[in-house]
Amino acid sequence: MGKDVIIACDFSGRQQTLDFLDRFAGETERPFVKIGMELFYAEGPEIVRELKRRGHKIFLDLKLHDIPNTVRKAMRVLSGLDVDLVNLHAAGTAAMMEAALEGLTRPDGSRPLLIAVTQLTSTDQQSMERDLLIHEPIDRVVMHYARRAKEAGLDGVVCSPLEAAKVKETCGVGFLTVTPGVRFADGDAGDQKRVTTPQEAKEIGSDYIVVGRPITAAADPVAAYRRCVAEFVG
Ligand code: C5P
Repeated sequence: MGKDVIIACDFSGRQQTLDFLDRFAGETERPFVKIGMELFYAEGPEIVRELKRRGHKIFLDLKLHDIPNTVRKAMRVLSGLDVDLVNLHAAGTAAMMEAALEGLTRPDGSRPLLIAVTQLTSTDQQSMERDLLIHEPIDRVVMHYARRAKEAGLDGVVCSPLEAAKVKETCGVGFLTVTPGVRFADGDAGDQKRVTTPQEAKEIGSDYIVVGRPITAAADPVAAYRRCVAEFVG
């Protein structure tokens, strides 16, 4: 898998998702898509199977976080769905991350890529201190969690594009950075606070950008997707 744009399919139902993705039928390759909790909980594993049958690569963004045994078994199920990329919370500890990898690995040794959420971008220094009782600077916490994910054998992290360069410095260039918070230079940031353009994300070294509303809410989603690919992949 190389650099790619992942479309966040933040829809609540199957039909809306399929209608949206039908617009991309003319593309040489079906876009890489992200299925999050909303769509997965609404439609279940069948939506994953259906999009796979239609030729999409899938990032299943369920952010697992539980005891190692439960996560191992849940990951085994997700691996059977043939997704391409899945994630978990690094806060579940190295033991949980290692168990997740075991669960994901198929008898033939193949497995989906596994990445970790370090700190959610909705968590800031103040809430981390007040709610989680973590008093280190948030940048240090993010890099520490990224390092632990790498040591546990994971393939990368989800992070802000503004953290991607430092993650690469800390964990090596081969460690994947998957970055949401992307907006066109002439676009509306909406509720995202720290944003970069696809071009900037490329320069910073993101491997994958996850783009939702700049594509899903565009008047012409296919043109917006192509613009993202042109800026990010070149
Ligand atoms: O519409 P927008 O481009 O903001 O969508 C970004 C996608 O990335 C959403 O699915 C959002 O849930 C997800 N995401 C994020 N920030 C994170 C992790 C995931 O925006 N830290």
